[in-house]
Amino acid sequence: MYVKANKFQCKVHFTEEKNILDVFEAIKTRRSIRKYLQEPIPDDKLEMIFEAARLAPSAGNHQPWRFVVVQDANRKKALTAAANSQTFLSDAAAVVAAVGDPEASARWHEKDPMIALEHMALAAAALGYGTCWIGAFDEDAVKRLLKIPARMRVVALMPIGLSNEAPDPRPRKELSEIFFKEEWQTPWRAL
Ligand SMILES: Cc1cc2nc3c(=O)[nH]c(=O)nc-3n(C[C@H](O)[C@H](O)[C@H](O)COP(=O)(O)O)c2cc1C
Repeated sequence: MYVKANKFQCKVHFTEEKNILDVFEAIKTRRSIRKYLQEPIPDDKLEMIFEAARLAPSAGNHQPWRFVVVQDANRKKALTAAANSQTFLSDAAAVVAAVGDPEASARWHEKDPMIALEHMALAAAALGYGTCWIGAFDEDAVKRLLKIPARMRVVALMPIGLSNEAPDPRPRKELSEIFFKEEWQTPWRAL
């Protein structure tokens, strides 16, 4: 299906699929999932999630990101050990290591992959899969395990899989506490 945005046309795959949440529903229902069913994700679904990362914005469109997708059980176990023994990493169908390339973007190589990774988290939520950001890991151990070159930065890991829990939403600050109107500390009055 093609949608028209200004004078440009973009091919849209996602809207052809049934049972997909719209973006705001995905944002609202996403949770950090720390219990997974040990079930694989079909490749077509996994690749839709990857596509969401590929289409993410990046400074200067340099796309200073690479992603290593781990599905092998032994390797997932080793990743778990490199990530403070957060055991749910081993149960998830896949664990993605998001990698930034400083040569591709000196200033944004850590931030851009994180934007792409959140695209993945939301696409996964839209398709009914759980994810969890993992920032607690031994970067050198992950690099060794996945044969990632020394100059690269591993910015985060993300397990993806079918959720085996339904956590309540975690608390968030009020909108008026974090959004200011025109000037610092002038609260935005929520509608
Ligand atoms: C950069 C980053 C690193 C995180 N690292 C971990 C982690 O190592 N382990 C973990 O269980 N959760 C981790 N989280 C998940 C947060 O704890 C979680 O997003 C937060 O408590 C809000 O819960 P929610 O995602 O369910 O809304 C991380 C989140 C972010 C954004």
